[in-house]
Amino acid sequence: MKCFVTGGAGFIGSHLVDRLLNEKHEVTVFDDMSSGKEEFIAHHFNNPNFNFIKEDLINKTQVEKEIKDHDVVFHIAANPDVRSGADNPSIAEKDIQATYNLLDAMRMQNIKKIVFSSSSVIYGEMCRWNHAWIQPFRSRNQCLQPWSQLNNGCDKNRRTCQKRTWS
Ligand SMILES: NC(=O)c1ccc[n+]([C@@H]2O[C@H](COP(=O)([O-])OP(=O)(O)OC[C@H]3O[C@@H](n4cnc5c(N)ncnc54)[C@H](O)[C@@H]3O)[C@@H](O)[C@H]2O)c1
Repeated sequence: MKCFVTGGAGFIGSHLVDRLLNEKHEVTVFDDMSSGKEEFIAHHFNNPNFNFIKEDLINKTQVEKEIKDHDVVFHIAANPDVRSGADNPSIAEKDIQATYNLLDAMRMQNIKKIVFSSSSVIYGEMCRWNHAWIQPFRSRNQCLQPWSQLNNGCDKNRRTCQKRTWS
């Protein structure tokens, strides 16, 4: 399979890349190196099945160009500093726009498979108590922290695009 891995130079993404290449898949890593590390992927640079694109998912034209002819997309790229998102909404906005660009590029190139790991923070925290202050969060998304909205936004993006494109 030809796999397109966003955030493939990051902590989680690079382990996925190792596994995919071990299983003889072709892999394109699309990563802007904002928090990725070259040392996580350097051991693949001479592998003919490995291709590295240093680029930001915000650059939609480039995403559309590079994603062409892939069979599946693994979307791991994100700003991992989710807690800062509470004070700085532009972090969440960028990640949601990046996910939107990726999904739209997939639609344009007729790529139908995406693996999106999201994050456990979208579920909020287990709570046995029923305090009144928790209720507004419960009735919305079950997200108890503001930064939970970030991954939840990306999840919603994906579900909406799935309905529009493939149902
Ligand atoms: N590390 C964990 O324990 C953990 C647990 C659950 C969920 N997650 C989630 O998994 C995702 C990845 O986590 P990680 O720990 O591997 O983080 P990471 O910072 O190591 O990896 C993220 C990668 O995405 C790249 N990236 C970020 N924005 C980009 C953009 N706009 N365009 C292209 N590349 C971009 C970064 O350069 C980096 O290589 C995050 O959403 C994180 O919240 C992480």
